[in-house]
Parts: sequence; structure tokens; C-alpha cells
Amino acid sequence: MSVTAVVGAQWGDEGKGRIVDWLAQKADMVIRFQGGDNAGHTVVNEFGKFALHIVPSGIFNPATVNIISAGTVVNPDGMLKELAHVEAAGVNTDNLYVSSAAHLVMPYHLLLDELQEQARSGKHKIGTTKRGIGPTYADKAARWGLRVGDLLHPEHFEKRLANVLPKKNLEIERLGGEPMEMDELLALARTWREAMGHRIIDVLPMIREAVLAEKDVLLEGQLGVMRDLDWGTYPYVTSSNPIAGGAGVGAGIPPTRITDVIGVVKAYCTAVGAGPFPVELKDEWGQRLRDEGNEYGATTGRPRACGWFDGVAIRHAAWLNGFTGLAITKLDVLDTFEEIKVCTGYKLDGEIIDYVPDTPAYEKCEPIYETWPGWQTSTRDTRSWDDLPKNARTFLHRLSELAGVRIQMVSVGAAREELVVL
Ligand code: GDP
Ligand code: IMO
Ligand code: MG
Repeated sequence: MSVTAVVGAQWGDEGKGRIVDWLAQKADMVIRFQGGDNAGHTVVNEFGKFALHIVPSGIFNPATVNIISAGTVVNPDGMLKELAHVEAAGVNTDNLYVSSAAHLVMPYHLLLDELQEQARSGKHKIGTTKRGIGPTYADKAARWGLRVGDLLHPEHFEKRLANVLPKKNLEIERLGGEPMEMDELLALARTWREAMGHRIIDVLPMIREAVLAEKDVLLEGQLGVMRDLDWGTYPYVTSSNPIAGGAGVGAGIPPTRITDVIGVVKAYCTAVGAGPFPVELKDEWGQRLRDEGNEYGATTGRPRACGWFDGVAIRHAAWLNGFTGLAITKLDVLDTFEEIKVCTGYKLDGEIIDYVPDTPAYEKCEPIYETWPGWQTSTRDTRSWDDLPKNARTFLHRLSELAGVRIQMVSVGAAREELVVL
């Protein structure tokens, strides 16, 4: 029995979807606990290749209950499209439920994300995924939000919308956008109710029952610690808490019931969006990582900034999440490299530091590297630790040492079975 949070240990896109898909082969329940369809979780398995945005990565196991829980924000249009896509590949999605307490990403949130980002000048742009995430969570915190469960109460929904829409339209017009029509939004809500009403439930009894019955439960995180609203590089962050502490809150599970926290981490680093990213390589090494790792966003297609493994950021992540194990992904991307660097500290105003400082100082940090020899042989077919090249094992040991966390899995390819489990 375990309740395992699987969370991003860097700037997102670490391979969480791929790890959850593998673990879900034996899981009774998978719960997405925060974020929305800003996620792009790539899964490659016997059904094909998918970029999941809001649907949990346990969807491919028909015996697994999949829940989009209270901490998330849901754009029903996106979710329904995604479900149609996986169903077309032969996947049964009957076991997918959406928490009535999750918040609705409304069309005005999408428009406001776009308009607000346009209105930010230069350095103040965040580079959001434009999925309405910030405006939806802002409404949730300000208590203007509409919840997924409100769809099941048409009169209540209409009253809430009538109250909030004029305020939203004021802001839209102030930012130069077209105001939205009440009737159109109500019609949209009706189509959502018809298409997904049967999936909307109070998920808590189901989750409580699973935990009390000692089932295997996975809590799937979105993004990574460096974009955590509280502990990331504010304001260049998302609007929820991807760290493990957010898992209990978002899923409705007490912190004392979470037994394992797996930190998913690439063997190097990538980031999309604005904000400090000290290890970014703007030279041919960065381009080589991007080419070998195919580092383009699963949601927006944007090229990801690439750099060497950041040993300072991983310590930050390890403390905040309390990792019980690491899943190191994309080792194979380094297979051809003659040498590989690892950042072990930052230089800030002439001094060496080993922590993540606040954002204005972080922008001035320069990485300090150590260099390790590559292994220059393919690891793609390796399935056991002892069969990994010696230099690869030494490198992985170093990453584990910097994090202060044992390695639980090493991923050597995007497909489900391309994994070394320790
Ligand atoms: P997530 O958002 O954390 O689920 O990660 P993404 O799916 O956005 O990005 C990870 C990318 O790396 C996807 O294209 C995966 O298919 C791919 N990937 C995951 N693990 C491996 C691996 O071990 N090796 C290689 N070559 N690709 C991987
Ligand atoms: P997964 O789950 C990588 C980044 C955006 C931007 C910031 C805020 O696939 O790892 P938002 O749209 O959330 O308001 O954008 O966060 N971002 C991601 N980067 N992977 C993601 O998800 C991301 N989701 C958001 O680029 O910098
Ligand atoms: Mg992703």
C-alpha cells in the first residue's frame, strides 16, 4: 500500500507523465492535484504517443480510477477534446471523474490570460501557456470563481455568472478586448453539463475509501518546484503549488497519509517561459541538448531553454518536497556527449552560494560547474543498473549525492518500458 506523490523537481517537463504511466500499471487510483491544461505530459505506450494536458496519466490502465481533483482548474472544452483523442486510440475512459470542487477555466479566463500577458511590458512578461491558469486561480482566491460542480446547478450557475461577468467584461474592455455575452456562456455551460455531467462528483468519499483500504494511490503533479507559486522564481511562476505539500491539499489527502514522494528530474535542465534559469546554455551545447532531447514544449511547441543539471536547484527541490526517491529521466540524451557538466554552486556578487536566492539576486547568479566524462555508448536498451556504463553510474551517483536522495528509477527512453528500476 502506498500513497505516492510524483512531482517535478526542476522547471517542469521532467517526464512526470512518463513515470506516472509506468507506475499506473499497478496503481488503483491516479489523482491530478493541481494545475490545468497548461501541463503537457507525454506518454508513449502500447496505445501510441499522447501529450496529456488535464487527463491523468493513469488513464491507460482500465483498472485505475483517474481523478481530476479539487486543486485543479479545468477547461471542459480542452478536457473533452482530450478524452475524445484517447478514446479514438481505444482507451476506455469510463473511470475518469472530475471533482465538483475543481474550478472552471471560463472563456474569459483564456482571453484575460492573453490580454494580461500582452499588457505586461518587456521584462514583466511571464511567458504563460495562455491556458487561463493565472486568471482562474486569481478568481478562485478572490472568491469569484465558478466550480465544476456549479454546472450541475443551472440556476446557481446563472446567478454566479451574472454576478461575475460584468466585472470580467470591464477588465476585458479596459485591456482592449471584446466583452463576452451571458447567453453564449450559459449555452456553453449547458453543452458541458450534457457532455461531462456524469463525471462530476464529490471525489472525497472515493479517495478516502481508497486510502483507508490501503490501495495504491498516485498523486500526479504538474510543472515543477521552480515554478511553485510560493517557492519558485516569483513572479515567473504558475498560480498553484506543484510541490508535494500541494498534493495533500489538492487531492484531499492528509499529509500524514502520503508515504512516498518521487522527484522526477532530468539528467540535465530545461525551462520554458521567462525568469531566471542560471544554467541556461545559449551556445552550441544548449542546442545539442535541445536537438538530442527534442526539447520543444508538449503544450505550446516553444523551444525549451536547455542547460546542465543544476545541483543547487535540486537541493532546493529535495528539501521542499521531502523526496523519498528520484526518477532521473532522459539519461540517454547524454549518450553521445564526450563530457558532461554539473552545476554545484552559484557565484553571486563575487561570492559562492549553495542555495536559491530570491528572484532579483537569482537573476545575477552564475553557475559553477564540475565536469564528468561521458560514456559515449547507447543506454536505450539497458534495463538494469549494473548494465549501465560505469561512467553513467558515476554521473548518476553524483546527481543523487547532490540531491541527498536515493535513485529509484532511471529512464533511458520515452517509451514505457525504457526504464531501469532500482
Ligand atoms: P512532463 O511534463 O514532466 O510529463 O514531461 P514532458 O512530457 O513535457 O517532457 C518530457 C519529454 O521527454 C517528452 O517528450 C517525453 O516523451 C520525453 N521523455 C521522457 N523520458 C524520456 C527519456 O528517458 N528519454 C528520452 N529520450 N525522452 C524521454
Ligand atoms: P508540465 O506539467 C513547463 C510555465 C510557463 C510559464 C509559467 C506560467 O508539462 O511540466 P502558466 O500557463 O502556468 O500561467 O505559465 O509556467 N509552465 C510550464 N513549463 N511545463 C509545464 O507543465 C508548464 N506549465 C506552465 O511556460 O513560464
Ligand atoms: Mg510537460
